[in-house]
Amino acid sequence: MHTPWEKRFAQRTQRMSSSAIRELLKLTEKPDIISFGGGMPAPEVFPVAEFQDACQVVLRDFGPKALQYGATDGYRPLREQIARHTSRYGIDVSADNILITSGSQQALDLLGKVFINRGDHILVESPTYLGALQAWNAYGAEYVTVPMDKSGMNTDVLEEALRAGPKFIYVLPNFQNPTGVTLSINRRQRLIELADQYGVPIVEDDPYGQLRFEGEHLPPVVMLDDVFRGNSHGTYHGNVIYLSTFSKILAPGLRLAWVVAPPEVIHKMVQAKQGADLHTASFTQMVAHEVSRGGFLDQHIKLIRSTYRERRDAMLASMDRFFPPEVDWTHPEGGLFLWGTLPKHINAADVLKVAIEQKVAFVPGEPFHPNGGGHNTMRLNFSYCTPETIQEGIRRLGDAIYQIIGSPVRVS
Ligand SMILES: Cc1ncc(COP(=O)(O)O)c(C=O)c1O
Repeated sequence: MHTPWEKRFAQRTQRMSSSAIRELLKLTEKPDIISFGGGMPAPEVFPVAEFQDACQVVLRDFGPKALQYGATDGYRPLREQIARHTSRYGIDVSADNILITSGSQQALDLLGKVFINRGDHILVESPTYLGALQAWNAYGAEYVTVPMDKSGMNTDVLEEALRAGPKFIYVLPNFQNPTGVTLSINRRQRLIELADQYGVPIVEDDPYGQLRFEGEHLPPVVMLDDVFRGNSHGTYHGNVIYLSTFSKILAPGLRLAWVVAPPEVIHKMVQAKQGADLHTASFTQMVAHEVSRGGFLDQHIKLIRSTYRERRDAMLASMDRFFPPEVDWTHPEGGLFLWGTLPKHINAADVLKVAIEQKVAFVPGEPFHPNGGGHNTMRLNFSYCTPETIQEGIRRLGDAIYQIIGSPVRVS
């Protein structure tokens, strides 16, 4: 007899549907399509040779340890390295504040497991990171949204949203995925004050903070929170759970990231992680530790910044040249994405259909809005393609938009 699997799946799987857009994006995996769809780093900057050397060192000097089970909270020297690195930002943290996770995506899932009861409201920016919604939908989360503008989450309307009693606030302050927008310093301060006033914790997701290629570095929310509370000495006990990752500064294939949080939160997340995967791969942690030693990371991040800056500039210049004047877009100072806004009557999903025929792809913005909206928006990734490919892709996309808007296709 054929097993009726659908009837056996847990209720939580009902919100794990794959969207129509995801189906469309599958078409974009073909090699002749120029894709601005994914969030992939430039493969050209992966430090392959350094990894090769580090693998050899780890296996030669620590082979049995690297191949053995390890501690759930992570490889101690890596946690200490991250604590030192975090302290450079002015946050006094110890290894007890650090949990290593299998990507920040796992940290988001663990936060769901630890904090979210069915029906709990999470306060998010709209639009926000799709992967967080995917992780938390499974735990039955509902969302209170706060709109974004060019200075990030609009803190003028945050107070009203906080009155809904959210479990926590999820914020992406630097070069947000999907918009590329950065939360201003004044708004960071206001966010901390309001969160404190309403007694609501903040989850700060910061995969891109180090990838700033223009303008001044802004302190992370976790650091401002620490200052707000009069500086913890040695171990952080504040109101922020901070996430970052090696995915965008080394390589996403490592599946290696970290959480900075008060020890009691780390402790609970460790218990949740034990049930998920026991621990993040020992070998990977030791190799990442070896690669990052001795200042390599600082030097490597400089290379990534200059590569992405060039690609962002190529995208912005091509959009100026090939997009209809009715289209608006953000000017990110770092990160991997920018955000386009089409005229209100245009649906980005319709543009995507034409774009795929023209062999170019992007992600329509609607799914990033948990409570709806954004049908006329689009996320474009500029880190993955070379500047030449970006120019050609944007030319094709400009043609696709012109086709939908109804103006004549330009002859270039
Ligand atoms: C905002 C945000 N959070 C988390 C992640 C997941 O990162 P990781 O590769 O560490 O799982 C991403 C990946 O693109 C992201 O953009």
